[in-house]
Amino acid sequence: MSSLHFLFNMIWNNKLTEILHGNYQIPANFVNLTFIIFRLEGIITMLINGKYYHSIWPDENDKGKIMVIDQQKLPFFFKTKELCSVEDVYNAISDMTVRGAPLIGAAGAFGIYLATLEITHNTSIGSHLGNAASYLVSCRPTAVNLSWAVNYSLKKLSGITDPDLLSETALGTALEICQTEIDNCRKIGDHGLKIIMEISEKKRGKPVNILTHCNAGWLACIDFGTVTSPVYSAHEKGIPVHIWVDETRPKNQGARLTAWELGTQGVPFTLIADNAGGHLMQKGMVDLVFVGCDRATRKGDIANKIGTYLKAIAAFDNNIPFYSLMPSTSIDFELYDGLKEIVVEERDQDEITSVSGFADGEIRAVRICPENVKAGNWGFDITPAKLVTGLITEKGVCKADEKSIKKLFSDKFK
Ligand code: MRU
Repeated sequence: MSSLHFLFNMIWNNKLTEILHGNYQIPANFVNLTFIIFRLEGIITMLINGKYYHSIWPDENDKGKIMVIDQQKLPFFFKTKELCSVEDVYNAISDMTVRGAPLIGAAGAFGIYLATLEITHNTSIGSHLGNAASYLVSCRPTAVNLSWAVNYSLKKLSGITDPDLLSETALGTALEICQTEIDNCRKIGDHGLKIIMEISEKKRGKPVNILTHCNAGWLACIDFGTVTSPVYSAHEKGIPVHIWVDETRPKNQGARLTAWELGTQGVPFTLIADNAGGHLMQKGMVDLVFVGCDRATRKGDIANKIGTYLKAIAAFDNNIPFYSLMPSTSIDFELYDGLKEIVVEERDQDEITSVSGFADGEIRAVRICPENVKAGNWGFDITPAKLVTGLITEKGVCKADEKSIKKLFSDKFK
């Protein structure tokens, strides 16, 4: 059977959804073709051990279960986790089982769905959902996607009183948010690819060296990723790229997650210490900086993982283009001045005083400083618009200033 035959057979026999949900093992010799076709069709990208995954999905057989990839365990173990209550969702977002701005937004929407499953004819719907929403939104303050998705879900539910219709609508809304984020990431990939291609042409096909911080990959989104979407596209098109991956202390999302993602997709990369970026830029070893975004303001200030600002300063000093890639769900059109208005999350000191790694078949944390030291753990920093070359969004690329952002998103400006 040829590869094309195989794919047609799959469609004919209705196996496509089974493949998408990871229930059908694709024979090894057909994996590449289905990967390319799925990618071109924008259905799904991420193939792990012969199965296609999103980073979050509802369990097909149990309407009370939302499934996620446990990002705390990666890259040492690939495990999925069931979320069965609002509290489960809260805990998964807080402890970073799920993380990354678009993904925590989607998780929040599924949290509202799980809250609707608790509703009976005696429940005061408004206060039940209102409480669930405030609880969910309180778990991580910086990424605007969480409050955006939770409030969007509430809006969709307003006025509905039938419990079954409430949960049907809430599930539909969460799935709609997932699909929107997948589409957004795909479009971000198309726009970002043009920037990579321009540099590749100037370098006459030598690898384009892109530095990234944290993980703005498919794990952080639902599929494709923001930073990784143009990178995966370039790689598939045979445009040579090489990624400098910041380890990203304290939680090492670069070392654990971005390195794992790029490795599974076959993209060349080198892991570097967080402080190495400036040196590499001075030596002409970085062509481009691509970072994600947790909250942008309407004038283009960017909140992203702690350390992003220092990379922006180094890029500015070395004349290296610095782009932030984001769906519009990460732009807070209400805010203007990021430094004054964005709340930066402060997390547990243990994340600074210890490091988690893999030893003797298990994940272990070890202390890296004297006992009982005081540590400060700010999760994000703000890069002012003046250091940002541009924003790459689903609607296109724009300068980091109010006028240019308004041109792309005039409907969002009041
Ligand atoms: O603390 P995290 O891991 O949730 O931080 C994630 C980031 O800073 C990402 O760059 C950001 O969420 C963008 S994800 C497309």
